[in-house]
Amino acid sequence: MSAVVRPYRPADRAAVYEICVRTGDAGGDATGHFSTDDLLPDLFAGPYVDLQPELAFVLDDGGQVVGYVIGTADTAAFAGLLRAEWLPRLAGRYPRPPDPPRGREDELVGLLYRPERLLVPELAAHPAHLHVDLLPSHQGAGHGRALIDTFRAAAAAAGAPALHVGVSPDNRRALGFYARLGFTPIPVAGRAVHLGLPTS
Ligand SMILES: CC(C)(COP(=O)(O)OP(=O)(O)OC[C@H]1O[C@@H](n2cnc3c(N)ncnc32)[C@H](O)[C@@H]1OP(=O)(O)O)[C@@H](O)C(=O)NCCC(=O)NCCS
Repeated sequence: MSAVVRPYRPADRAAVYEICVRTGDAGGDATGHFSTDDLLPDLFAGPYVDLQPELAFVLDDGGQVVGYVIGTADTAAFAGLLRAEWLPRLAGRYPRPPDPPRGREDELVGLLYRPERLLVPELAAHPAHLHVDLLPSHQGAGHGRALIDTFRAAAAAAGAPALHVGVSPDNRRALGFYARLGFTPIPVAGRAVHLGLPTS
């Protein structure tokens, strides 16, 4: 493997945004799905790299960023940062959608306005959480495992005893990957599948 995992740098931000979109449809390409391709990364990538860069790592293949793992060691504190810092920064760009939402885009923008959705009692014993994504060219070669190992160690060093992920039930490949790495189901109401893993 020539690609290496290294800490995130601000110059990686555009590549992280691109990878988030290209893997944003249950692992497949979500380019063009919404009125702006920034929507998914503004929700699921930007706040992590901007607010928790110390928990962000990229897969660098000869100077090209082809994957990442991003997250937080403390989901409750992160929800507070989203409320205090991220929502004010993005609210002008994404007006509050109507209730009930008119479609998928409204549902997603609604998430921006509800950072406290992350405060799920059933997940409290797994205070860290992450997002891991690789471009198709670099999937299936052990890099996903390497990224999870890196994040796991960083979360442990930051004091988190365990971590969780939320996965679309449509993303069969990711579900198989997480199971292989030892993640186990955490029962939580709702459509997403939640999985947990100790950090050590
Ligand atoms: C899901 C993803 C992160 C996995 O990373 P990857 O680099 O493809 O996976 P790896 O090659 O590191 O696989 C690690 C191990 O899991 C196994 N594995 C991977 N996918 C599997 C599957 N669907 N079923 C069973 N085992 C699987 C591998 O065989 C490997 O086993 P080993 O280490 O014991 O040999 C990557 O495919 C990806 O980015 N997909 C698109 C985006 C995505 O879906 N992200 C997750 C959103 S929740």
